Amino acid sequence: MRLLVLLLLAGVCDFGLCRSRDPFTWLSHLHSRYRAYGAPQADTNGGDCPLECDCPPSYPVAMYCNGRGLQHIPYVPSRMKYVYLQNNEISGIPDDTFENSTEIVWLMLQQNQLTSDQIGPNAFTKLTSLQRLYLDNNLLNQVPPNLPTSIRVLRLTSNNITVIEEGTFSGMDDLTILQLHDNSIEEVGGALKSLPSLTLLDISGNRLRKVPGLLPERLHQLYLESNSIDVVPADFLRKLSQLQFVRLANNQLTDKGIASNAFNVSGLIELDLSYNKLERIPPVSTKLQNLYLQANQIKEFSLGSFCTKIDVRNYSNLRVLRLDGNEINSEDFPPEAARCLRLARYIDV
Ligand SMILES: *[C@@H]1O[C@H](CO)[C@@H](O)[C@H](O)[C@H]1NC(C)=O
Ligand SMILES: *[C@@H]1O[C@H](CO)[C@@H](O)[C@H](O)[C@H]1NC(C)=O
Ligand SMILES: *[C@@H]1O[C@H](CO)[C@@H](O)[C@H](O)[C@H]1NC(C)=O
Ligand SMILES: *[C@@H]1O[C@H](CO)[C@@H](O)[C@H](O)[C@H]1NC(C)=O
Repeated sequence: MRLLVLLLLAGVCDFGLCRSRDPFTWLSHLHSRYRAYGAPQADTNGGDCPLECDCPPSYPVAMYCNGRGLQHIPYVPSRMKYVYLQNNEISGIPDDTFENSTEIVWLMLQQNQLTSDQIGPNAFTKLTSLQRLYLDNNLLNQVPPNLPTSIRVLRLTSNNITVIEEGTFSGMDDLTILQLHDNSIEEVGGALKSLPSLTLLDISGNRLRKVPGLLPERLHQLYLESNSIDVVPADFLRKLSQLQFVRLANNQLTDKGIASNAFNVSGLIELDLSYNKLERIPPVSTKLQNLYLQANQIKEFSLGSFCTKIDVRNYSNLRVLRLDGNEINSEDFPPEAARCLRLARYIDV
């Protein structure tokens, strides 16, 4: 297990998945340091600041109002760029709340009591510089309408969103990361199709019964684990030529539901199919590096799923292969496996 962890750190961090390398986490940390050293009330040289919040003079464009039991968003001075309102009891956002807030770049509203019917239809429209909007852990049942097209990172994890209306994200050409984990989404229809910059889409922990058919072409990372997906059509991944990481763990996948070459696509680096009901190892591309198949019902080790023809230049690039929690053990490995999987550093059966 330790070996696996090391390998993951070495492999996955390079692709920007490592939390500690997230520039947002890093900058927040920096801001918190400023806050710790700043005076609690900073109206003298930093500019005005609502009484409920801290605006450190050393960082006058940040406003810290998090964790104060607030029920309403306080007045936001127009100079503010970074506004921290998370972990309060805010339930609504009237249309005029941010009417002078054209400078805000980050707006943190996670862990509040926001409901969709108490967010004004134009609550966010004036935020023309907004890049990060965090709305996780609220009570929203839809994505707020008329979001600024400048947003790059939108987090809506742990709400109660059931449908995504067509047009919800229209014009959001810079949206790069969209997190919808842990909602009640049954279908996404075509709502995501025309997001030209979207590279990471997380719809894990929802109620999808099939893979979304209309996804944007630039996606690098697609997280669909913990849904009820039972079918993966042949062209699903083929249409997404930039995809590198696909997670489909904890679904209802069976051999029958997976089209024969559905996962044999050359761009993929990591594929997670663990905790499904597969009885066979699906054919994968020789370029694949990490394959997770633990906790399925796999009964045979089919080398042909990895290598069709073994010669010096044509072998699998697989580094990590997990097959534990299946119905095979290491005796089921044919002797040629060593040649085909010559790069594997970790195989668990
Ligand atoms: C926005 O600015 C105008 C003009 O300075 C002011 O009258 C208004 O109260 C401000 N709105 C908010 C929500 O601060
Ligand atoms: C989520 O939404 C459904 C209907 O859309 C509703 O029945 C349910 O109570 C909501 N759950 C929460 C926790 O608000
Ligand atoms: C994967 O697809 C390629 C063609 O794109 C094919 O040559 C290869 O045999 C397939 N791999 C497996 C394991 O079926
Ligand atoms: C390996 O051989 C298959 C056909 O047998 C071919 O499609 C594939 O491109 C080859 N892979 C490499 C890395 O040469």
